[in-house]
Amino acid sequence: MTDIVILGAGGHAKEVYFTIRHINAIQKKYNLIGFFDDMTDKKELFNLKVFKRIEDITSDNIRVALGVGTPESKAILIDKFKKKGFLFETIIHPTSLISEDAVIQDGAVIQGYCIINPDVRIGKYFTCNDHVQIGHDTSIGENVHINSSVNISGGACIGDNTFIGVKATILRVRIGNNCIIGASSLINKDIPDSSKAMGIPAKSFPSDGKIHFGTR
Ligand SMILES: CC(C)(COP(=O)(O)OP(=O)(O)OC[C@H]1O[C@@H](n2cnc3c(N)ncnc32)[C@H](O)[C@@H]1OP(=O)(O)O)[C@@H](O)C(=O)NCCC(=O)NCCS
Repeated sequence: MTDIVILGAGGHAKEVYFTIRHINAIQKKYNLIGFFDDMTDKKELFNLKVFKRIEDITSDNIRVALGVGTPESKAILIDKFKKKGFLFETIIHPTSLISEDAVIQDGAVIQGYCIINPDVRIGKYFTCNDHVQIGHDTSIGENVHINSSVNISGGACIGDNTFIGVKATILRVRIGNNCIIGASSLINKDIPDSSKAMGIPAKSFPSDGKIHFGTR
């Protein structure tokens, strides 16, 4: 069994915990040690410790799994844990179907009921919520986050550090690096680097980098 710590202790981390529990229910693969979050007051989550300092995570053979969903917070955690020599585990929910011809680099976390089709190429530290469909020959950069129920058509291209909001539909277009795509948007044109795009069809604007999650 692999000892594992989930990075983050918020809502997304809870969903990753749920996925790991599903994997373990089929075959006991992971020994969950706890969560890491130095921004929360929580001491425990699901009766597991919430670590605040990397130094307190002591195990010779431990791996970490991304449990945060914004490229910005992922990048901070990736940097911290890479510097300390931690390895990032790829976690795939057993209900997701990944083509054997798709290439997914290290550190991905893919939730349930996703379909990733042949010849899709995905960079490191990909995080993907449930019910996402990625069409054939699509390429996705590093540190991308895709929310639930997103549909990406075959041959699309998505740049590094991009965040795609829940239920967005992406046609065969190129979305640049560091973009934010609004919930339920239809992306039918290329989106330049560092843009925020939203609406049906989407209009794009220079991004302020802020992701509004739907509550004020
Ligand atoms: C795109 C997004 C990041 C924009 O956030 P924002 O920059 O704070 O934008 P605001 O909420 O200030 O809205 C600005 C305008 O865009 C509109 N707008 C915002 N999001 C939109 C969307 N997804 N589709 C269409 N229009 C949208 C607003 O109605 C508002 O229009 P108005 O000026 O005519 O009133 C955000 O609305 C969004 O969709 N976030 C993704 C949420 C998500 O997927 N969460 C996943 C689960 S955690």
